[in-house]
This record gives sequence, structure tokens and C-alpha cells, in this order.
Amino acid sequence: MQTTIRVVRHTHLPRQTIADLRVLFDVEYHEKFGPWDPDCPYGYSPADVHVLAFDGLDLIGHVGFQRRLIDVGPVGVLVGGTGGVLVARRARRTGLGTELMGRAREAMETAGVDFGYLGCREDVAPFYESCGWRRIRAQERCLSRRDRTTIIESTDTPILICSAAKSAASWPAGPIDLRGTPW
Ligand SMILES: CC(C)(COP(=O)(O)OP(=O)(O)OC[C@H]1O[C@@H](n2cnc3c(N)ncnc32)[C@H](O)[C@@H]1OP(=O)(O)O)[C@@H](O)C(=O)NCCC(=O)NCCS
Repeated sequence: MQTTIRVVRHTHLPRQTIADLRVLFDVEYHEKFGPWDPDCPYGYSPADVHVLAFDGLDLIGHVGFQRRLIDVGPVGVLVGGTGGVLVARRARRTGLGTELMGRAREAMETAGVDFGYLGCREDVAPFYESCGWRRIRAQERCLSRRDRTTIIESTDTPILICSAAKSAASWPAGPIDLRGTPW
């Protein structure tokens, strides 16, 4: 497999890449969540930077992030809210997910965000931890991806952060308000 990684701003995604992303996501999620929408993927917040993996011309993996100022306790924190982490089935368990997460982290540093931030299912948290992300425990408040209005508060969904411009060790204490829908 000859893998190439590209980092592309959302506004600069070529039409063909959007079509390829649609196929990548629809294969995985269409049955359960319906069609992928680049500007509102399954009700989550959209990425403004995409990290894309190609095998030749075939799109085989994706990680996206969006810059956002969120509240953590009394302070504002600039995060790269990360989502759309997906590797095509045929390319899984070859280290590609790890590589994409590493490139996303570099792109976040370039974008000047302080930390990477994501929420995930319990069963997939070990993947992010193996990529060097750190699990934190805090109360999290966000808007529901279902109607983008209802406020959801949770304490038990896994939250993971990574260093970008700032070290993950300096993540401030306190409850988190995502000030919008998650990624
Ligand atoms: C999660 C996912 C992106 C991982 O990509 P990948 O390219 O297979 O990951 P890697 O090969 O870099 O895996 C590195 C390590 O992470 C862990 N890992 C990989 N996939 C995992 C999973 N689904 N659950 C838990 N741990 C996982 C393993 O320890 C693995 O090392 P190993 O293969 O030596 O055991 C991929 O399985 C995927 O696309 N899954 C479906 C979509 C999904 O669930 N995305 C996450 C949404 S929050």
C-alpha cells in the first residue's frame, strides 16, 4: 500500500474528494445514520481542516478537526475539536489511524490551537490512548447533535485531549462547555 497523507482546509476540498469522503462515510454509517453531509456530518459540527489518507487515488482514511474556543471552568480554551475518525475496513490495524491522528495533531499545532479534544465511545478510547491522547474526567455540556438545541450534560462519556500548542498536562480543571455541538 502506497499511502499519501494530505491536509486540506474544508473550503478547499476538491469536489472529487467530497464525493470520495461521502463513499467512505456512507459505507460505514449510512445504514445506521443516513447520508453523510460534509457541513453537518450526522448532526455533529463540521471539520474546518481535513487530514486525508490515500492509497494511490483511493481515499482510505480521514480525521477532521474544527477550531473552537470552549469554556473549561472559568477560562476559554482554544481546541481542535476532532471527529470523523475513520479508516476504510481494508486498511485497518495497519497503523494508518495512528498516523492520521499524528498528522492531525501536527496540523493543530500549525493552526495554533492549544489542545486536541474529542469525545468517543468507551470501546474505542484505547485506540486514542494508544495514539498518545490523554483521557480526562470532567462534566461536559454541549448541544445535542440531534436537534442542535437541547443541552446535554454528561460525566461518563470518554473525553480525550492531546497536546498541540500547549502541553496536555496544562489542561485546566473544571467543567467543560463545548459552546455548541460536539465533533
Ligand atoms: C478506530 C479506527 C480509526 C482505528 O484505525 P486503525 O488504522 O485500525 O488503527 P491503528 O492500526 O493505528 O491501531 C493502533 C492501535 O489502536 C488500538 N485500536 C485500533 N482499533 C481499535 C478499536 N476499534 N478499538 C479499540 N482499540 C483499537 C490497537 O491497540 C491498535 O494496535 P494493534 O493493532 O497493534 O493492536 C478504525 O478502527 C475505524 O475506522 N473504526 C470505525 C470508525 C470508528 O469507530 N471511529 C472512531 C469514532 S470515535
